[in-house]
Amino acid sequence: MLSWLAAETHTIEAVEPAKKRLEPARPSYYSGKPGNQLQRLLTARRDFLSIWRQNDYSARISQISLMGRQVVVVNSPEAIKYVVATRHENFERKSPQMRRSLEYLLGDGLFISDGETWKQRRPLVSDIVHKHRVPAFGDIMKNTSLELVERWTKLGEGAQVNALYEMAGLTAEIISRSVFGNDLGEESAGMVTDGFTSYQALIDSINIGYFLGFDEGLPQLRTPSLKRSVKRIHTIIDRVIEDHLAGRGDDHSMVELLIRRQQRNPELKLDVVALRNEAATIFMAGHETTAATLTWAWYLLSKAPWVEDAIHAEIEEVCGGNVPDVADVPKLKWCTAVIEETLRLYPPVPILARQAKEADRIGDLDVKPASLIMIVPWLLHRTASLFPDPHLFKPERFLEKRPTPYSYIPFASGPRICPGLQFGLTEAILCLAVLAQRFKLRVPANHQVEAACRLTLRPRGGLPITLHPR
Ligand code: HEM
Repeated sequence: MLSWLAAETHTIEAVEPAKKRLEPARPSYYSGKPGNQLQRLLTARRDFLSIWRQNDYSARISQISLMGRQVVVVNSPEAIKYVVATRHENFERKSPQMRRSLEYLLGDGLFISDGETWKQRRPLVSDIVHKHRVPAFGDIMKNTSLELVERWTKLGEGAQVNALYEMAGLTAEIISRSVFGNDLGEESAGMVTDGFTSYQALIDSINIGYFLGFDEGLPQLRTPSLKRSVKRIHTIIDRVIEDHLAGRGDDHSMVELLIRRQQRNPELKLDVVALRNEAATIFMAGHETTAATLTWAWYLLSKAPWVEDAIHAEIEEVCGGNVPDVADVPKLKWCTAVIEETLRLYPPVPILARQAKEADRIGDLDVKPASLIMIVPWLLHRTASLFPDPHLFKPERFLEKRPTPYSYIPFASGPRICPGLQFGLTEAILCLAVLAQRFKLRVPANHQVEAACRLTLRPRGGLPITLHPR
C-alpha cells in the first residue's frame, strides 16, 4: 500500500579484480525530499537500509521527527557507550516494534524482555551458551558441516543452489541439535525452521501504532497463517521440553541444562512456557544471524578470489589434509578476519532499537520519554572516520588493528551484548573453514545481489550460487 510513494534507490557494486578491489553491494544514498517524512517512513517499510543520506554515515547524533515521534540516531562510539552501558537502565528496553513483532512467538523470552525478568534470566541463558561451553558443541558444528559437504559432493560440479537456504539449513540443524539434542528428528527440525521463516515473513516491519502516538505500539495482528506458524513451533518445542522433564531427553542439550538449572534453583520459576520461550529465543537468535553471516561471506569470497586464495592457503597450512576442528579456530586468523569483515559490512542485526524510559540527554541532544533510540551498526561500521575505505571489503584491516571500543558492534555491546557471541563466531569460522576446504562457491555473473533488511540483514531473494569441488 502506497509503496509507490517510497523514494527510488539503486544498488551500487564495483568489482576490480586486477586492483584487488571490491566494493560489495549496497543501496545508494537516500535522495528523498528533505522534510517528506511519509516518503521516508514508506521507504523504511520497504527497506531500512535505503533511508540514510550520505551525511548519516558520519560519527554524530541526529534526530528526526516521524509523525511527531522523536527518533534519535546515535552514531558515535562515545554516545553509543552512553546508551548501551553508562545509562543501560534507561535504554535497556527494546523498541515497541521489536517487542510487538516477537512477543507472540517468544513471550517473555530474553531477547525482548526487560526489567526484573531480563535481570533474572540473563545469567541463566548467558551461562548456557557461554564461551566455556562452546568446545562441547564443536563436534556438532563440524559434523553437521561435513554432512553438508557430503550432500554437495553428490550434487556434482557446477550444481546450482541457494546459499541462503543452504546456510539456514546448516545453522538451524546445528542450533537445533545444540538446543534440543540429537533426538528432535529431521521432520520436526524442518517444521520449526519453516515456522520461524514464515513467521518473519508475516510480521509487520513497522509498528504504525507507535508513530500514531501509542507509546507501547499496537499488538501484531494475529492472522490465521501467523497463528498456524506459531502453533507449529510451540507444539514441537513443548513436546521436546516435556520429554526432557520426563527424563527422556538428550543429556547434553541446552534444554537439559535449562531444566537442571530450574531443578537446582526452583525460585527461578521456569515452567514449561518459560522454558519454551527461552529455548525458542536461543533457537531464533542463534541460527538466522549465523546463516546470514555465512551467506554474505560466500558472496564476498566469490567476488574477491584473492581473499579466497588466502583462506585456502591458511586452511592448508593449519589443518593439512585433516578436517578443520574447533581447536583449529584460534589459528585460523584469515578465516576469522573474513568473518569479522563480513560482520562489519553486513551486520546481521543492522539496527539496534531501544525505547527511552525517562527523559535523558545524549551528547547535546535532549531525549523525550518513550522516544525511539536507534543505534545502526550498518551506518556505524561504514563511517569513514572509524573505518577507512568504509564500503570496501578489506579483511586485512582486522589483522592489522583492532577497532576502537564501541565502533564495531555486530553483537551489540554493554550488558545486553549477545550472549552467543563466542558460539556464533566459532560456528561461522568453523563452518566456513570446513566448507571452503572442499568447495569454491560462485555467484552467477548476471545476478545482482541486493541487501534487504527485515529483522535480519540478508540478500534479497537469497543468494544463487554454483558449487565447485576443490
Ligand atoms: C553471527 C552470529 C550472531 C550475531 C551477529 C548476533 C547478534 C546479536 C545482537 C546484535 C544482539 C542484540 C540485539 C539487540 O540488542 O537488539 C543479540 C542478542 C542475543 N543473541 Fe545473538 N547473535 C549471533 C549469534 C547468537 C547465537 C549463536 C546465540 C545462541 C546460541 C545468540 C543468542 C542471543 C540471545 C539470547 C540474545 C538476547 C540477549 C539479551 O537480550 O540479553 N546469538 N545477538
